Amino acid sequence: MKILVTGGAGYIGSHTVVELAEAGYEPVIVDNFVNSQESVLAGLRAILGRDVPCYRVDCIDRAALRGVFEKEPGIGAVIHFAAFKAVGESVRKPLAYFENNTGSLLTLLEVMREFGVENLVFSSSCTVYGIPDALPVTELTPTKPASSPYGRTKQMCEDIIHDTAAAPDAHLRGILLRYFNPIGAHASARLGELPLGVPNNLVPFITQTAAGLRDKLTIFGSDYATPDGTNVRDYIHVGDLAQAHIAAVRRLLERTAPEAVETFNVGTGHGNTVLEVVHAFEQASGLKLNYVIGPRRAGDVPAIYADAIKAAQVLGFTTKTSLLDSLASAWQWQLTLADG
Ligand code: NAD
Ligand code: WQD
Repeated sequence: MKILVTGGAGYIGSHTVVELAEAGYEPVIVDNFVNSQESVLAGLRAILGRDVPCYRVDCIDRAALRGVFEKEPGIGAVIHFAAFKAVGESVRKPLAYFENNTGSLLTLLEVMREFGVENLVFSSSCTVYGIPDALPVTELTPTKPASSPYGRTKQMCEDIIHDTAAAPDAHLRGILLRYFNPIGAHASARLGELPLGVPNNLVPFITQTAAGLRDKLTIFGSDYATPDGTNVRDYIHVGDLAQAHIAAVRRLLERTAPEAVETFNVGTGHGNTVLEVVHAFEQASGLKLNYVIGPRRAGDVPAIYADAIKAAQVLGFTTKTSLLDSLASAWQWQLTLADG
């Protein structure tokens, strides 16, 4: 069974391609490499021992996307990762985010309908919850107005999928996966996160600091109402996150879902503070990290973590990798990058 993976050369997409192939599916990648590198394909080849078909196509380009569906008959489901994902950049370039993130979904849905492909897994985000009133957040926790254009694109895309599936002649079945904070790398250290420039996210900033590429980590605020004053997040290993997609694809192909569109949190169900992550990294790497406490970062949610029960009960999905092991894998990946 072929599974089309848009954004399959990216961080989460590439790990999902590995898990799909190892589960016996035939992944087909569509990526325009706007935020990834061709070297990812070599990493996939090294892990899987074969090439994964990859089309250098922009999902907004309808003719090119149609071309992929023509050349790859028998696609059973699409996993749609392709999007821009930098929160700060989305504030500076909102139109680029609306165009790329919603535009690519619209084109994809039209082409899927034309080719009779009915199953879609969509990369959503815990950012749709904004600053939640109670923790942990369940899938029924109301979404809040998004704090960035990026977050709004995720809310809009969720709505677009719901409305498209609800149309009278629709055959679309969707699973919306709301990821919490993905971290870490493949155990082989052949795949991992490749941030361009200065990383925005915590873990690549930590590993780059430990590797001497950055002077120090600044922790954004220590006066929050959390156990040690720093923000709380739900950090999930990217390999575990990838497994959630396999469970979602299976559920769509089995056609047992009672609703056309289902939503799942994908997290560990456990929150960690920034300082806990720093100390866990020190333990995992055996290094001391140079860090300082700085001011709060505008727009940060003080604390959020997933209620992971629905994913466990309905998808049979639970995480397996500890925070320590996740950070150890991130560090191994950083060391591999340093080796060139
Ligand atoms: P990534 O940037 O590493 O991967 C996205 C991939 O999509 C890249 O390879 C990029 O080149 C490609 N792409 C972007 N626009 C495209 C287009 N128009 N056509 C074809 N390819 C295109 O990001 P990621 O971290 O792997 O995230 C994957 C998805 O998960 C995104 O939708 C992101 O919003 C979502 N998400 C990410 C996180 C996170 O913290 N990493 C958290 C929640 C949700
Ligand atoms: C994690 C924690 C920071 C860097 C973002 C998006 C969200 C989702 C995941 C896509 C926070 C702290 C960070 C640093 C720090 N992405 N931090 N110093 O903010 O939870 O979520 O990525 O959907 O939409 O907003 O992740 O990795 O940026 O930060 O202290 O140099 O680390 O304040 O508490 P975040 P992050």
